[in-house]
Amino acid sequence: MTAHVINGKELVSSVREQFKQEVSELAEKGIQPGLAVVLVGDDAASAVYVRNKAKACEAAGIYSVVHRLPAETSQEELLKLISELNGDAAINGILVQLPLPKHIHEETVLDAIDVAKDVDCFHPVNVGNLMIGKKGFLPCTPAGVIEILKRMDVQISGKHAVVIGRSNIVGKPMAMLLLREHATVTVCHSKTPNMEEITRQADILIAAVGRAQMIKAKHVKPGAVVVDVGINRMESGKLAGDVDFDDVVETAGMITPVPGVVGPMTITMLLKNTIEAAKRANGLV
Ligand code: GUN
Repeated sequence: MTAHVINGKELVSSVREQFKQEVSELAEKGIQPGLAVVLVGDDAASAVYVRNKAKACEAAGIYSVVHRLPAETSQEELLKLISELNGDAAINGILVQLPLPKHIHEETVLDAIDVAKDVDCFHPVNVGNLMIGKKGFLPCTPAGVIEILKRMDVQISGKHAVVIGRSNIVGKPMAMLLLREHATVTVCHSKTPNMEEITRQADILIAAVGRAQMIKAKHVKPGAVVVDVGINRMESGKLAGDVDFDDVVETAGMITPVPGVVGPMTITMLLKNTIEAAKRANGLV
């Protein structure tokens, strides 16, 4: 059996087209959603992600501004910028690209972002709202994964979903969103013994470990839907997911290649959150 390989270009462009349409409808009301992205330091991967986010905004008609700050920026300077952006009416969403330099306390910075502008859904209030199922922002990568599953007509309700990884950005909120969709959810992590016994029970397997090509065919139930959230730079310079694609493609029923599906869909969910923030700021939802 060879898996259905999801075509990210097709999938993502149809979702972005829908948001572009929403932005043009807002423009008719004199509203332009605005996103501020803050990048501190010169992490090469972060610079690429930030550039892609700004480009996607531009293509959708969303105003975007990127604040590129030097690595030695103090926490106070960063907090001052966030405070200014919190008060800027042209800005509906604020995203501070992670990781931050070591001397900056990440939690303090994320907590300083206005809850209504927290389009990453990293603020404890928004995380709490997610946990209790209250309406609000959804974190971009997990929301993107759900969007992919739904658009591919994958049934989630009643299925066993296994998430590998327990990060605050992906693993934990991913489990929560799958639960919301009525999946039975198991979370595996680095201390899980006999992990493959568990992952082999998954109808839907989400890999968010951050280790290149760690998930092999032996981890996958034949016919399972495999979503690869990982993006790792190999020594050769090539990008690879957490899933060993060539090995797993023969066993899975459906698979997302890396790069090209989860990454662009994550950015698409950022556009969605920014549009939602602008609507809320203007009393439209
Ligand atoms: N770094 C890696 N992923 C993310 C993300 O989703 N948001 C932000 N702000 N930084 C990241």
